[in-house]
Amino acid sequence: MSRDRTFNISINFVKSLDQYALAQFLSGRQTECPQDIITALDIVLRESASNKYVTVSRSFFSHQFGKMDMSGGLECWRGYFQSIRPTQMGLSLKSLNADTSATPFYKSMSILTFISGFYNERHTLTSLSDRERHEIQKALNGVRVETVHLPNVRRRYRITGITSQSAKELMFTLDETAGTKISVAQYFRTHCKYNLRHDSLPCIKAGSDSKPKYLPLEVCQIVDGQRYVKKLNEVQVSEILKVACTPPTEREGKILELVRKNNYDNDLFAKNFGIGVQPNLITVEARVLQPPRLKYHDSGAEKGCQPFGGKWSMNNKKVFRGGSVDAWACISFSRHYKNIVQDFCHEIVFACNRIGMVFNQNALIIDSGHHQRIENSIHDFVKACAKPLQLLVVILPEAKGAYGRIKKYCDTELGIVTQCCQSKHLNKPNRQYFENLALKINVKAGGCNTVLEDSVRGSIPVISEEPSIIFGADVTHPAPGEDSSSIAAVVASMDWPYVTKYKCLLSAQQRTREIIEKLYTKTDDGVPGGMIRELLFAFHKATGRKPNRIIFYRDGVSEGQFNIVLTSELDAIRRACASIQEGYLPPTTFIVVQKRHHTRLFPENTKMADRSGNILPGTVVDTKICHPNEFDFYLCSHAGIQGTSRPAHYHVLHDENNFTADQLQSLTNNLCYTYARCTRSVSIVPPAYYAHLAAFRARYYIDTGSEYASSQVSGKTRQRTATASAATTSAAPTTGLPAIPENVANVMFYC
Ligand SMILES: *[C@@H]1O[C@H](CO)[C@@H](O)[C@H](O)[C@H]1NC(C)=O
Ligand SMILES: *[C@@H]1O[C@H](CO)[C@@H](O)[C@H](O)[C@H]1NC(C)=O
Repeated sequence: MSRDRTFNISINFVKSLDQYALAQFLSGRQTECPQDIITALDIVLRESASNKYVTVSRSFFSHQFGKMDMSGGLECWRGYFQSIRPTQMGLSLKSLNADTSATPFYKSMSILTFISGFYNERHTLTSLSDRERHEIQKALNGVRVETVHLPNVRRRYRITGITSQSAKELMFTLDETAGTKISVAQYFRTHCKYNLRHDSLPCIKAGSDSKPKYLPLEVCQIVDGQRYVKKLNEVQVSEILKVACTPPTEREGKILELVRKNNYDNDLFAKNFGIGVQPNLITVEARVLQPPRLKYHDSGAEKGCQPFGGKWSMNNKKVFRGGSVDAWACISFSRHYKNIVQDFCHEIVFACNRIGMVFNQNALIIDSGHHQRIENSIHDFVKACAKPLQLLVVILPEAKGAYGRIKKYCDTELGIVTQCCQSKHLNKPNRQYFENLALKINVKAGGCNTVLEDSVRGSIPVISEEPSIIFGADVTHPAPGEDSSSIAAVVASMDWPYVTKYKCLLSAQQRTREIIEKLYTKTDDGVPGGMIRELLFAFHKATGRKPNRIIFYRDGVSEGQFNIVLTSELDAIRRACASIQEGYLPPTTFIVVQKRHHTRLFPENTKMADRSGNILPGTVVDTKICHPNEFDFYLCSHAGIQGTSRPAHYHVLHDENNFTADQLQSLTNNLCYTYARCTRSVSIVPPAYYAHLAAFRARYYIDTGSEYASSQVSGKTRQRTATASAATTSAAPTTGLPAIPENVANVMFYC
């Protein structure tokens, strides 16, 4: 029964917004951005849409824009992003940033259908195992449902759990004073005149533990328009990517159509506030930066290389510094491909030697059948090898569940540099695959694939002049609903005058905290420590020099956090330097790297496009759509592959190295050609990319969960496993990461 309720709402006058401040800011006469006015305008312009569509942060989604079925009881809705941003385009013109997007929603359907869909079953399940119950509970917790068993009465509840007992077993007290108990199934029969068809299934729990409400699964329907915020599985990710992946011309058309359809000029609220929106995209001037020349080893037929179109090949070239691998072995967990592991390894040897490594062709190679005791198999195999191994190649099992365990075990316990390969590659030998594999193996063996010719000549502005260290840093947070720490990864270059080898440090920190906590630390006794200090010492050890310049590329910071991250992390950098030597204060440049923004650049004509229809690699934009008075730019450093290329946004928050815009743009673009894993220029600057890879990999070290805890490992490693898993299950806000043995940590193990 719905009761009418009256709410008294009071509206208080807070202040009137001063448009003069906005005008001053946009014309560069005031540095502080009057964010409150921009927020107010933004609210006005999104009012109509938020009444019509489902709002998700700054985006709107609706069936009307199109929806697609996904697996696991989900569907994907199309939508768009909208935001007003202050830009350089003068007084009255703020740019409206619009872009299309797609996001997963729960499909509105009965819970029974959802559960069948979740397990890809066509029939309604008749009972649930404990494991299934936990999985369903995880997928449905927090979801709103409405009951459909009574005609004309629909009540809404939020799911807080799934009961362990079935509807016919689950008893509750009907009448406190009389103490009568009744089962849920009985209650529905007698009180609701409703006979449950599936009374051996559990119930949904809604409400609190002290006052729970029980609802049989079959009377519940998922309420429409609820976004799915939990982690998508791999199939679902690819489904959504397919929808979200739109070629540039199509995307451009969609955005224009959307703006026309929204008809902002007729929007009641926009009109009242005198806001007009031009229905066209803005034309901005862009430059296309020249790709850098790359240096390869002099013993190759080609000693250098001029990339074109964002890529190049290793043909006729030898890596700048070839690593050497004498003792190595390969263990395969593939079930499907048993007899071709030898051939696969032969290809690895061939590819490594071809690019200029010294790679022993003899190795111990085995097919392992022990999928339940993977760590044990690896442990025993490594023990059986005659010499201490420099490199272990692991061919991963087809079942993805064990990837994390294997990476964790190899990186943190085994103390041997490991190269993991997916078993599907056994089947399709592909030259490019082996070449990229060889490049990864080379950096893991301490080699270096290529360097910028300018770094050999010593002609990189700022960097070549003085010993310089380039940092990359990123923080990854656990997926919503996952109970683990955030992980910070910091990498730093170790090979000045070159900038190719990056050492990585990892630390776990308080969940969802944006600022990197352990950049600089000090014990109660005043002993300094932290990641920056350690990396500066490592730089000194590797190059014999003390860095006189610091460049810090920081990924994973949202706009609202710029100030707090800059203040805290720049301070940490300075204190780390001062802790090494009084007065040591190398000039520092702090740049935020953003990939998750909604600015898209389209070529004006086909002459300025590559074959995918995207802007050319090296395209840089630093006017009009950029910040009115700060140093920022959009750089598309990579060639388009599928969909619309996303330029990276670099925002220089602080610069003591006096970079000109040209110098920093070129440096950033050139560095994108030194990424170790392929012969392509990448879309974000490699130090930021490496930090991201490392943080992502470290997630495996703490997210392996119960599966890992139950595995059996023998001898000394068993004890360590026990402590690691105890830490994983502890309720402490941060779980520590297991340490990575030195010989692994000193190479680019995360590649
Ligand atoms: C709402 O305001 C009216 C008038 O001031 C008052 O009579 C009434 O009691 C208020 N109701 C509530 C629920 O506060
Ligand atoms: C940058 O410019 C300022 C002001 O001209 C100067 O004091 C400082 O030494 C310069 N920094 C570097 C690293 O050249």
